[in-house]
Amino acid sequence: MKLLVTGGAGFIGTNFIKYMFANNPDIFIINVDKLTYASVANQNEFNDLSQYTFVKEDISKQKKIEFIFQQHQPDIVVNFAAETHVDRSIQNPEPFITSNIIGTFNILEAARKNNTYVHQVSTDEVYGSVEKEQFTEESPYNPRSPYSATKASADHLVRAYNITYGLPITISTCSNNYGPYQHPEKFIPTAIINALNNKPIPLYGDGQNVRDWLYVEDHCSAINLIIRKGKKGETYGISSESEKINKDVLRIILKELQKEESLINHVTDRKGHDRRYSFNSTKIREQLGWSPKTTFDQGIQKTIEWYKKNKHLWEKLTT
Ligand SMILES: NC(=O)c1ccc[n+]([C@@H]2O[C@H](COP(=O)([O-])OP(=O)(O)OC[C@H]3O[C@@H](n4cnc5c(N)ncnc54)[C@H](O)[C@@H]3O)[C@@H](O)[C@H]2O)c1
Repeated sequence: MKLLVTGGAGFIGTNFIKYMFANNPDIFIINVDKLTYASVANQNEFNDLSQYTFVKEDISKQKKIEFIFQQHQPDIVVNFAAETHVDRSIQNPEPFITSNIIGTFNILEAARKNNTYVHQVSTDEVYGSVEKEQFTEESPYNPRSPYSATKASADHLVRAYNITYGLPITISTCSNNYGPYQHPEKFIPTAIINALNNKPIPLYGDGQNVRDWLYVEDHCSAINLIIRKGKKGETYGISSESEKINKDVLRIILKELQKEESLINHVTDRKGHDRRYSFNSTKIREQLGWSPKTTFDQGIQKTIEWYKKNKHLWEKLTT
């Protein structure tokens, strides 16, 4: 299997490449990444593998992407490449439009010309914020930040290419991930790094926002199942269904690191901050037999260990 991964130098992409090499001996991977500020991975990590090729490229460059498709003739594309930080999308949405919408359009066009199967990696944030109930794959899209609006837009394009051109596609909408290689600007890495350095940890608003944290390796195993057994044209929601309020996440991290809760520093809330994300992942569990293997307690311990041991990868990105 020849797999073209975009954004494979980012948080989930790096974990995905590791997961795929560890679990699929017959695989070849071409990683296309622009290497934005968000790429935490050590680029030399896979370079010795004969089954791995890295191409530094921007998916918003249509001709370059078409050339890469012609050159490598992938069987499958897994599109992770995106601008991903909601706060940055509020400050400056433009790069999100370019990478997340135009970039996905270019992938679809190149795939259409080569009849390549595309798996689009999306987010449960496309469904918006929910008070009490859970979203499912049938819920209407209701994105509320520039980030989630660009992801929703890309998903609509992906589905339209399936219906209009018969392009083989699947989409996964996943809840919040945590684990190794995540950029220090995100919530859990910020908490771990600041706690390690005895610095205040910013917490938006009243800290009662609810997220459903999934250990990144469980996301990778779900995508592996979808691209092997998923039904073309379908969307699969991925979630651990163990929701936590943000303040409790910080309490768990502080307890694990034996630090005082006084490090928690409430700051002005994010504009339009979604209160709760919640997704019912029965479809992927029943149809593909997926389930998450890592509890939050196990995953957070592994994540903390990784940040302790890999300071050389993230330290330069914190200034
Ligand atoms: N992190 C999460 O909790 C989460 C949850 C659900 C879905 N997702 C989705 O998963 C995907 C990966 O997220 P992540 O957290 O690993 O992101 P990330 O920000 O850590 O990494 C994104 C990677 O994409 C690359 N990239 C960005 N724009 C590019 C472009 N125009 N051309 C080529 N490469 C480009 C960056 O260099 C980076 O290596 C995204 O599509 C995101 O929307 C993330």
